[in-house]
Amino acid sequence: MDTMAGLHRTQYCAEVGEADQGKEVVLCGWVERRRDHGGLIFIDLRDRTGIVQVVAAPDYETVSFQKAEQVRTEYVLVVRGTVRMRDAETVNPKMKTGTIEVRCNELRILNSSKTPPFYIEDNIDVDEKIRLKYRYLDLRRPEMQHNLIMRHHVKHAMRSFLNTHGFIDIETPELCKSTPEGARDYLVPSRVNEGKFYALPQSPQIFKQLLMISGMDRYYQIARCFRDEDLRADRQPEFTQLDMEMSFMDQEDILSLTEEMMQYIFKETLGYELPLPIQRMTWDYAMENYGSDKPDLRFDMKFTDVTELVKDTDFKVFRSVIDNGGRVKAINVKGDADIPRRELDGLVEYVSHYGAKGLAWIGFTADGNLKSQIKKFFGEEKLREIGAACGAETGDLILMIADKPAVVAAALGELRKEMARRMHLIDENQFAFTWVVDFPMFEYSEEEKRYVAMHHPFTAMREEDLDKLETDPGHVYAKAYDLVLNGIELGGGSLRIYQPDIQQRVFKAIGLTPEEAEQKFGFLMRAFEYGAPPHGGLAFGLDRMIMLMLKRKSIRDVIAFPKTQNAIDPMSEAPSVVTRKQLHELHIQTEEELVSK
Ligand code: AMO
Ligand code: AMP
Repeated sequence: MDTMAGLHRTQYCAEVGEADQGKEVVLCGWVERRRDHGGLIFIDLRDRTGIVQVVAAPDYETVSFQKAEQVRTEYVLVVRGTVRMRDAETVNPKMKTGTIEVRCNELRILNSSKTPPFYIEDNIDVDEKIRLKYRYLDLRRPEMQHNLIMRHHVKHAMRSFLNTHGFIDIETPELCKSTPEGARDYLVPSRVNEGKFYALPQSPQIFKQLLMISGMDRYYQIARCFRDEDLRADRQPEFTQLDMEMSFMDQEDILSLTEEMMQYIFKETLGYELPLPIQRMTWDYAMENYGSDKPDLRFDMKFTDVTELVKDTDFKVFRSVIDNGGRVKAINVKGDADIPRRELDGLVEYVSHYGAKGLAWIGFTADGNLKSQIKKFFGEEKLREIGAACGAETGDLILMIADKPAVVAAALGELRKEMARRMHLIDENQFAFTWVVDFPMFEYSEEEKRYVAMHHPFTAMREEDLDKLETDPGHVYAKAYDLVLNGIELGGGSLRIYQPDIQQRVFKAIGLTPEEAEQKFGFLMRAFEYGAPPHGGLAFGLDRMIMLMLKRKSIRDVIAFPKTQNAIDPMSEAPSVVTRKQLHELHIQTEEELVSK
């Protein structure tokens, strides 16, 4: 193999242009393709900027030509050559460097390569496991390089905005105390403290609040967070947050500063002008109208509550739902009245996955007729009234669900999104932002038979609701907010409690005894006793944000080395078994050892 000795790269491959004509350049990179044309060899040389064509011929330089004959795809080369214009008929308008080529004066092979398990090019159809197993090759592909470079630019833009707005970047610990509230913790056994465990942070929440008590006033961190939860396309066991906290600011101050930051980031990195202010909608409104606290606003199709219209019906199903405090809600799918019966049956099946016991439909067909499987129960006039309430015109299809409010929200909310996909109502190029504000403070967990904090238990609530903390926690509203983009929660935060007595009352409301509260959060309660300023903040999921900016379907595409859905890294094969010695040092016995005792 050759070495670089004496050669120094002058520029990146795709940076070579017509302005370099006649100049000698030194380029380094990987062989994308080699084409042999008898006396001429063409090599497409690739680096992270793109590709340039290198031409070798025996009469340019014999040794280099012989080496060019040996190279295979993904060999690593350094090439010294002269930039020249291509002949008109060989110009490639699809390539950035398509008008020039590099006449090879010297070629050195720095390393060889085995044949890669998949092509190093965009839009490959390869199982994700294989891509992750050879992630270093996957990341050689232009689209993946683009994603990671874009991620770098987004982080840079965030930092530059925050640095010029008085924010201080501070690191917080990765080895923390376990205070499970929300997701499950990743635990780390302590060797020097037998039987004790650290937890990896689910977020820097408590530390950033402590930094406000320290007087840091404006903090940020691009922080790694760990949550042991079931994974989905937009969730990873470790992920990155842009984490922020500020003192002496009210909710409106925080929202407007953050949306200014968003505007700056989108402008700097995508050249996109985000119009401000971003709309704000209450949680109640979002749930009533879209059945979701992260509504996709790229299309309309709001819910219409038709409970009042149908409440006097004899139709047993609706009757019993309404009598039991349920609701009947509808969506209007414009122009879908001619949907085949088979597809309607499929929709009934679709909503059943979200708990709905049925789906009623009314089609206002083009011939002026009305088709509905519930016509015999309601009569045509009533169904037309329902249609009118939903703004139905000829050609429209009304879909209705009767159930408990939570089921209607979930099932009709999912159906709304599904119908938008089927009807091609989603403009993939749009960025539809909304703030969702005024979240309930608590939600009742059927599983744990207690109230749990909807955001987290450090969230402040509306002053007028303080009295309800003990008597009616279900109706306490929090000063909490989420930023939603295209139906995905980008980030969220809240104003915080900064008075120890209120914090104690919230711990009590979520079922912590004073002893448990002291054991878990005593250090925080003590800190509150030493002059805690009013403060608040929020955190953005960096991976999700970049996924949405780049129109990718999975956050794995914007993370260099992600885990699979089973929380595995197929490349390094983490997690793995460890030696007995390692476990013993950590004072851990396996179940097997315990059994054999
Ligand atoms: P929250 O738990 O809402 O708030 O998290 C903030 C944002 O982080 C992203 N996110 C995730 N991204 C990828 N994989 C995951 N498993 C994952 N979980 C969350 C989401 C989410 O909106 N400390 C509070 C914030 C605060 O109150 O300041 C917090 O962590 O985009
Ligand atoms: P049934 O009398 O139960 O067969 O219901 C008659 C029609 O009403 C069926 O086509 C069901 O899909 C529909 N239906 C049943 N339950 C509901 C419900 N909870 N919400 C909306 N439609 C329903």
